[in-house]
Amino acid sequence: MALFEVRGLKKAFGRNVVLDGLDLDIYAGEVVTIIGESGSGKSILLKAMMGLVEPDAGTIRFDGAEVTGQTEQQWFETRQRIGMLFQESALFDSLDVFENVCYALRERTSMTEEELAKRVAETLSLVALPGIEQMAPSDLSGGMRKRVALARAVAVRPEIIFYDEPAEGLDPINVTRVNRLLLGLQQTLNVTSVVVTHNLKAAFAISDRLALIHDGRISATGAPETFLESDDPIVREFIGDRMRKVLRAG
Ligand SMILES: Nc1ncnc2c1ncn2[C@@H]1O[C@H](COP(=O)(O)OP(=O)(O)OP(=O)(O)O)[C@@H](O)[C@H]1O
Ligand SMILES: [Mg+2]
Repeated sequence: MALFEVRGLKKAFGRNVVLDGLDLDIYAGEVVTIIGESGSGKSILLKAMMGLVEPDAGTIRFDGAEVTGQTEQQWFETRQRIGMLFQESALFDSLDVFENVCYALRERTSMTEEELAKRVAETLSLVALPGIEQMAPSDLSGGMRKRVALARAVAVRPEIIFYDEPAEGLDPINVTRVNRLLLGLQQTLNVTSVVVTHNLKAAFAISDRLALIHDGRISATGAPETFLESDDPIVREFIGDRMRKVLRAG
């Protein structure tokens, strides 16, 4: 059984039909990367799966239960099980790293200060930034900020994590670092990961499976290798000849 089961999902903004009957299954334990042109609806799909965007039609099931049409209170409970690294994931500048990382823990759990301190320390170690609890977000580099945002997303120990452009705007070294972290967390925390990225090299390196959004649907899905060998014109065009060579070279 799929952990997430999306069926016939539709979403339009006025005349702009973004999702047009999209089907997608996410299985427990896998890393799935959603790729597709800018504006193809990748972020909207993730937001719909978290109840942050209301679909016009279709159903979403999470862990066997339908979540479409849930009340806000029910979504609140569902979201406790989902970690999210937003594309525009800003830290709270007025709070130090400690308070940023334990934000959701304070909101959702009744952990004591001692438990919070332990969890934050563990989580900062997971993202390879131990001991920076007292630092201010404004004193961190871009790469460090991303990793603190990642720590904030995983502090609650979610079952599934959505990453929307986890490495956007980072230099190549930090891109690699964030991707390694993502895989490390996948193993340490035993989570399921859904990633959205334009970085095909990263997508190929980290994913068990790719899913390409085109014209509001998943037009192709499969292991990264199958995308390289695909005869599907949409897949071929999206990857492009130049990138295909780069990816084949590893
Ligand atoms: N709140 C909104 N109101 C109106 N249109 C919206 C809204 N949110 C998204 N859209 C539109 O929906 C489409 C899909 O947006 P989305 O953010 O999901 O794209 P994306 O695939 O994530 O793109 P990118 O790769 O650039 O992040 C775009 O055309 C966007 O303009
Ligand atoms: Mg987006």
